[in-house]
Amino acid sequence: MRRIHIFDTTLRDGEQSPGASLAPEQKIIIARQLAKLGIDCIEPGFAVASPGDFAAIQAVSRELQTVEIAGFARAMRGDIDAAVRATQDAARRRLHIFISSSDIHLDFQLKKSRDEVLRIAREMVAYGKQFVEEIEFSAMDASRAGREFVIELVEGVIGEGATIINLPDTLGYAIPEEYGDMFRTVRKQARGGESVRYSAHCHNDLGLAVANSLAAIQAGATQIEVTVNGVGERAGNCSLEELAMAIETRQAYLGAKTGIVAGEIYETSRMVSRAMHFPIAYNKPIVGRNAFQHESGIHQDGLLKNRNTYEIMDPEAMGIPRSMIVLGKHSGRHAIKHRLAQYGITLTDDQLQEVYEKFVDRADTLKIVPDGELIAMASDSTGMQ
Ligand code: KIV
Ligand code: ZN
Repeated sequence: MRRIHIFDTTLRDGEQSPGASLAPEQKIIIARQLAKLGIDCIEPGFAVASPGDFAAIQAVSRELQTVEIAGFARAMRGDIDAAVRATQDAARRRLHIFISSSDIHLDFQLKKSRDEVLRIAREMVAYGKQFVEEIEFSAMDASRAGREFVIELVEGVIGEGATIINLPDTLGYAIPEEYGDMFRTVRKQARGGESVRYSAHCHNDLGLAVANSLAAIQAGATQIEVTVNGVGERAGNCSLEELAMAIETRQAYLGAKTGIVAGEIYETSRMVSRAMHFPIAYNKPIVGRNAFQHESGIHQDGLLKNRNTYEIMDPEAMGIPRSMIVLGKHSGRHAIKHRLAQYGITLTDDQLQEVYEKFVDRADTLKIVPDGELIAMASDSTGMQ
């Protein structure tokens, strides 16, 4: 079983979500929770971006001595110096250096040739290596870059001491087979690649970030970069909770596992949602309000007999309060009887039929019938007050 390392960038890439910026104290509180969640490496910010980010990285590095801390830097001396200083007191740290690799970025943004980018990447990895042993190199926009250039870059930085190679799908453009294929090819062809860890970093523009990350795992990646609730630029990053639970639920098929403590998932999700003022869609997998709610009578009936009929995960194992069956117009007598029994109310078959008829009538106007109303209906039918 391969151990997949989870690299959390909620506090760096996730914070690039419009309107989601965090104060340094909030970052420290979230970082503590990420450590409890079992994250392997936390990227707490971008040291050169602001004094607040620098201070947050420094504070997280000092306090969280059990987790590896990443200092994020463009391939520039000033950025590297700031990242190295901010993470100075971490018990374990890495330097994360990135540069673009696609021709469109080189031509229009960096205005540099491939040879120049290769030279800069090598020089900056060699520069960073003087200070930090663990160097992650990210070839930004790798999924849209020429494969042969990505291989050249990867070989170049491995030659200078990079220990982790990240091949991001920066624009969320790749499809799973294609993204996996990139990892297979680069791993096979880049000299020196056997000694490094490969990492995936996926954005969700086409809703494929989790699928692409799983494809990367199947193609040999052993680190996945994620954010809590999938927050991040545009449509966000690979969602931590979805990826972790996909690996956990399909562990046997994937032959992989993580060190995530599932019981902390819900608390982490809520904490980040509150701090970033970032509401969670009702239908978001794992942590959305409806993720474990069942309205249809057929599903409710099955669940009451055996939860595995309509649930592939146990919400309680993720710290989610036990799934409440929503009572609405698709609910059956069985679910009504069961809900009333939870309040200590038992009905005869005739009483149940009477309550059911009132319930269906009411459910036509209300989408969800609250428990209070149901109890009132039962009280009317049984003459109880
Ligand atoms: O999306 C991206 O390419 C990134 C890298 C710089 C790691 O965030
Ligand atoms: Zn990113």
